[in-house]
Amino acid sequence: MLQHYNNVMSTQSNLVKCSRIYGLMGSVFALLTFACLSGSTAAAGSLAEKWLSPAPSAAKKNPVASTQNSIAAGQKIYSKTCMMCHGKTGDADGPAVIELNIHPAKLSDPQLNTEPDGALFWKITTGKKPMPAYGKRLSETDRWNLVNYIRTLPQH
Ligand code: HEC
Repeated sequence: MLQHYNNVMSTQSNLVKCSRIYGLMGSVFALLTFACLSGSTAAAGSLAEKWLSPAPSAAKKNPVASTQNSIAAGQKIYSKTCMMCHGKTGDADGPAVIELNIHPAKLSDPQLNTEPDGALFWKITTGKKPMPAYGKRLSETDRWNLVNYIRTLPQH
């Protein structure tokens, strides 16, 4: 009986010790969790900045020659469909920008030239919130026409 009592006592004091250790570990753990979470949000933030197309899509050749006709056709669709976000000259200042509090890509940015036609085509086809996917809304030729038109934006 006494033996049992001693066992209970030592279990209790062990529990007290453990809860103190866990209390301490809890704060360390909370700190670590916080550090990890803020670290991963920062990483997610920088990932979100760069929207990359899969390599095979980027490698796709543009089958539509960049003729005046193609560029004019692209401009027509752009004015109707894309300008509200990307802006008249591709400066990402269309009327929807303030209204929806979104940040469209600046299509007038010369760094767009580092992206192959296939990558732009894939992005127009696939979309990325809040940008809609145009794969079903616009014909393939129209999407290539858009690529050809977008290419002229840095010159405006
Ligand atoms: C509702 C607003 C909206 C509309 C409409 C819209 N876009 Fe976008 N677009 C965006 C946003 C926002 C991004 C940036 C996405 C990201 O990187 O997170 C973007 C990105 C892009 C990119 C990628 C640029 C880069 O740097 O890689 C291209 C190309 C593009 N849009 C073309 C178009 C075309 C062409 C149309 C019309 C057919 C269009 N967009 C319509 C909002 C829009």
